[in-house]
Amino acid sequence: MRILVLGSGAREHAIITALLAERAGHVITCAPGNSGIAAVVETVSLDPTNGGLVAEYANENGIELVVVGPEAPLIAGVADPIRTRGIAVFGPSRAAAQLEGSKAFAKRIMEVAGVPTGRPVYAGTLAEAEAALDELGAPYVVKADGLAAGKGVIVTEDRDAALEHARYWLQHGPVVVEEFLDGEEVSLFFLSDGHDVVPLSPAQDSKRLLDGDLGPNTGGMGAYSPLPWLADHWGNEEAFVAEVTELVALPTIRRLEHEGTPFVGLLYCGLIVTEQGVRVIEFNARFGDPETQVVLPRLVTPLSELLFQAATGQLGGRAHPEFHPHAGVTVVLASEGYPENPMTGRRLTGVDEAEALDGVSVLHAATATLDGDLVATGGRVLSVSAVGDDFAEARARAYDGLSRIHLDGGQFRTDIAAKVVR
Ligand code: AMP
Ligand code: GLY
Repeated sequence: MRILVLGSGAREHAIITALLAERAGHVITCAPGNSGIAAVVETVSLDPTNGGLVAEYANENGIELVVVGPEAPLIAGVADPIRTRGIAVFGPSRAAAQLEGSKAFAKRIMEVAGVPTGRPVYAGTLAEAEAALDELGAPYVVKADGLAAGKGVIVTEDRDAALEHARYWLQHGPVVVEEFLDGEEVSLFFLSDGHDVVPLSPAQDSKRLLDGDLGPNTGGMGAYSPLPWLADHWGNEEAFVAEVTELVALPTIRRLEHEGTPFVGLLYCGLIVTEQGVRVIEFNARFGDPETQVVLPRLVTPLSELLFQAATGQLGGRAHPEFHPHAGVTVVLASEGYPENPMTGRRLTGVDEAEALDGVSVLHAATATLDGDLVATGGRVLSVSAVGDDFAEARARAYDGLSRIHLDGGQFRTDIAAKVVR
């Protein structure tokens, strides 16, 4: 198949790696890609948020499937002109991508579809935000309504910090003050063709910058999959996935279909497992990053088949994808200053040495090649992903890989998946 992947992160590198692993002779192009992606497939410098240009490129180049990686192009509506031209596209329309683009839209869908989530109180002014904080009490959760690259949410015991966060984001629009939910987080992905859904295997992301879940929220500093502790409550992963399918994914997808905004693409359910049951903390309209870097290396079923079936309305009745039982761990290397003010342009060394290790792959995010050197060009620079027979092995491999890589001032967490090593 001729496949165009849009995006330039480690998630897109993981998607392309999975497509290449099928050994099906796919012709893959990535726009715009990064240095690691350019080493394995053709890259083109095409602005992924420019739907008209992307659709024209896909048309002229006989692309049979477009896979949209990041949220920004989706929310800008990149999928619409591609779909209009009759080209299969894995990624929701601008209207359906509001599920990620607007917390208020997502909350409304959840409310009418009866999907369990934390109670929201909307605030358009500082006085309203203050009243909402006092109504819901500590710990405080304040969220920007629109896209904020992982920086829009604060969870804190400190009322002044919560209020300061609200004050900042109110400059950009309304904020949501939300009921605090206590429990383990789960990221569960569903492929959707607009009517039916097919689940992938759950993962857990570590969103805080520092070990012990301290420091600011980030886009994600590491992840692991599967989640052995789900068995404590549900007996097995399948039972958990079945519950989330019935309680969350299907009602959401059917509601969007009913409203005339069918969601075709990846429904990312960000969940918290509370003592009262599973609650949604957020929806995203695309694969998670870094969760994709641990979910896809475990996928046995050809990814292209799943994405194409979703894009063309053919998921009804298909069997669930198959996953390797082995463990996957990924650790993100970020630049000094991330997430506030990442330093860029610094040299990266040791990547080849890390990649040569058994079971390890280095998935590039913000990298470029400059005068023959690999340099970091942004906040999250790369993900070192590893699989192993168990978490001890996968984790040891990922950290061994990371230890071979050098970036001045580079930051990474040392405790990814530590709690599941038995
Ligand atoms: P979000 O961008 O909505 O996923 O929020 C980022 C992170 O903030 C989540 O991964 C959670 O760790 C945390 N979070 C968000 N909403 C809540 C909530 N209602 N209760 C507790 N933690 C939350
Ligand atoms: N890892 C969180 C996200 O992709 O939004």
